[in-house]
Amino acid sequence: MKIFLDTADVEQITQANRWGVLDGVTTNPTHVSRTGADPHSLYPRICQAVKGPVSLETIFLTADQIVEDGRRLAAIAGNVVVKVPVTREGLMAVKRLASEGIKTNVTVTFSPLQALLAAKVGATYVSPFVGRLDAVGHTGMDLVRQIRQIYTNYGYPTEIIVAAVRHPLHVLEAALAGADICTMSMDVLSQLYDHPLTDIGIELFLKDWKKVPQP
Ligand code: E4P
Repeated sequence: MKIFLDTADVEQITQANRWGVLDGVTTNPTHVSRTGADPHSLYPRICQAVKGPVSLETIFLTADQIVEDGRRLAAIAGNVVVKVPVTREGLMAVKRLASEGIKTNVTVTFSPLQALLAAKVGATYVSPFVGRLDAVGHTGMDLVRQIRQIYTNYGYPTEIIVAAVRHPLHVLEAALAGADICTMSMDVLSQLYDHPLTDIGIELFLKDWKKVPQP
C-alpha cells in the first residue's frame, strides 16, 4: 500500500520524504489555509518536495470552471493531480480532464455508488473519507471494502485513497481491505514506527552489549 501525507506543510513533506516511505501528498483548502501561505508560491514547493502525485483541490463547482482550473493546476508541475468533489458537475469535469490526460482525485466521497460513478468517468483516484463516517456512527472502512469489491468485480483501474484517517488502526484496516493508498497526517505516519516493545528490546540489547568484552 502506498503512503501519502495529507498536508500542505512543506517541512513535514520534506521530513517524511527523508524517511523514504512517502509515495505522494494530498492537500485540501483547509490544509492550505493552515499554512498561511499563498497557493501560487506554495503549490510548486509542495510539488518539488515529493516525487509522487500531489493532489491540489479545485474550489470551483461548475464543470466548465473546474476544467479550466484543473488545466491551470495541472500546468504547475508534472505530478499534479486535480482534486474534484463528487458532484454531477465535478464528475462531468473529471471525464473531460481525463480525456485530456489530466489526473484526478474524486474527493469527499461517502458512498460506494459515488465511487462507482467516479470510476466510470475515468477518475485516477477516489478518496473515501473514513474518519468522518466513523464520527457519525458509520463504519468508514466498510465503504473502502465495498469500493474495493466493486472495482475488482469490474476491473476499474481507479485507485482507492483511504482519507480522513484518524489513527494507526485506520492504516492497518486500509491495508487489510486492499486499499491502494492511505493518506494520513504526519502524527499518524510517525506513530506507525512506534511500539513500546521495540524501545524495551533496544534498551535491553544495548544494556547486554555493555557486558560483552571489547577488544
Ligand atoms: C483527503 O484527501 C482529505 O484531504 C482529508 O483526508 C480530509 O479529511 P479530514 O479533514 O476529515 O481530516
